[in-house]
Amino acid sequence: MIGVFDSGLGGLTVLRKLAERFPDISFCYLGDHANVPYGNRPSDAIVELTRRGVEALFERGARLVLLGCNTATAVAARRLQQNWLPGSGWAGHNVVGIVAPTVEAATQTPWAVTTPQYPQKFNSDLIAVFGTTRTITSGVYREEIRKRCPRVEVIQQICAHLAGAIEDEASREELDGLVREGVGAVMEQTLGALPHRAILGCTHFPLVEDLFRAHLPSSTRILSQPEIVADSLEDYLARHPHYLGGFHPQPRNLTMLTTGDAVETSARAGIFWPEAPPFERVVFGTRFL
Ligand code: DGL
Repeated sequence: MIGVFDSGLGGLTVLRKLAERFPDISFCYLGDHANVPYGNRPSDAIVELTRRGVEALFERGARLVLLGCNTATAVAARRLQQNWLPGSGWAGHNVVGIVAPTVEAATQTPWAVTTPQYPQKFNSDLIAVFGTTRTITSGVYREEIRKRCPRVEVIQQICAHLAGAIEDEASREELDGLVREGVGAVMEQTLGALPHRAILGCTHFPLVEDLFRAHLPSSTRILSQPEIVADSLEDYLARHPHYLGGFHPQPRNLTMLTTGDAVETSARAGIFWPEAPPFERVVFGTRFL
């Protein structure tokens, strides 16, 4: 069984794609709806919340947890992998994020290759990255893309309120205004040059991909992070099959957990993923502020 963690609904955009791609694999999803959104929180809080979520999924039997969240990945993944996991008592378990596969897709360069290689070293595309405050201020996308493609220009844009507005079921008009504002700010930075590609670097944003599509220039290709993550997980599991464990129930289980209200979360998940199983509430501590 594989765990998928997000601050709220966003990771479902990833889980939905994984559930389609791997019909025999069981998944356990945990959305930390009691604490969403993460994107404007201090880094240490994001690390601690993410650690608790990962541990709750390990306790449920996941050996591998995928952070279906750019914010948690950008801020917490490396710290958990390097500082927490080795001494945590969870030997044989792992936590992986979603920034690396996205950078690989954006640069057409394997993550392990950290220096510019031909022909990508001559790539001078313009890439727009939209994300939460923490993801963008971490600079991870710009830094990791430019390590591999130093001539690529990366325009980063904070969409501070978009994930929260999606969680709060804001009106289409309000969401449209927030997306228009974010895209407009990117176009101001590019001084009229059209981005070749756009990374929706928050897993909540595919829920309003149509609005990004409507406001971005028609020539800008939007990279689909859920698709990219599914490709990357396929490759990862082929190399590390032990994370799947030995027992595969048929039919597979899709377990949905939330730290928020189960009925409300199930109803909202069903709006964009009608086949999503109902959520159960999980409690692993009091609200973290
Ligand atoms: N969906 C998450 C991300 O990919 C986090 C959004 C939030 O909680 O602010 O960044």
